[in-house]
Amino acid sequence: MLFFIDTANLNHIREAAELGILDGVTTNPSLMAKEGITGEANILKHYREICNIVGPDKDVSAEVISTDYAGMIKEGKALAELHENIVVKVPMTVDGVKAISTFSSMDIKTNCTLVFSAGQAILAAKAGATYLSPFIGRIDDITWDGIKLIEEISEIYTMQAYDTAILAASIRTPLHIVQAAKAGADVVTCPLSAIMGLFKHPLTDIGLAQFLADHKKANG
Ligand code: E4P
Repeated sequence: MLFFIDTANLNHIREAAELGILDGVTTNPSLMAKEGITGEANILKHYREICNIVGPDKDVSAEVISTDYAGMIKEGKALAELHENIVVKVPMTVDGVKAISTFSSMDIKTNCTLVFSAGQAILAAKAGATYLSPFIGRIDDITWDGIKLIEEISEIYTMQAYDTAILAASIRTPLHIVQAAKAGADVVTCPLSAIMGLFKHPLTDIGLAQFLADHKKANG
């Protein structure tokens, strides 16, 4: 399972990249706005900066703002030309699915976002999406089961031999990461806090302290 970080914060991206386990980045317009990145030129510059931090062969999702087919194609082509790492993130709408199909025929990678059902997952796969982003946390927020959706999509994609990768998004906790891995996600995209949470175990801390204490006693 690949690890993407879900942020536009350059320090968080650097920190995750330094761990040596980062495979890519996802952003969205809300995450860009949170970092104060506004205006087309600054937004494009920021995407380029993210691509340069993560290095070659690491996919970076950049989302289109247009909601109509023609606008999505124009915007997506410009984003794809920015850097070879760029994956065009497109919302799950009628125009979005049409655009994904066109991008697929142009060999432009896509990430179909805002996915909340198995039916939407089938449409995105049929259109040739590279990645599919079901939003686990937002489903849990309304007391449905986000992980169950990942299981369902995983079963369908395996049965139908679809090539689209399941990118579990809207991850909130380290437990979500483990559950997504068990449910068959190909990728998880998560905030730095969820990734760092995976490291934590009191027995690791206690065991390491004991090893160091024993070494000190024996060696002075
Ligand atoms: C996915 O690519 C989205 O950027 C993201 O995971 C949404 O997460 P949120 O529900 O925490 O906003």
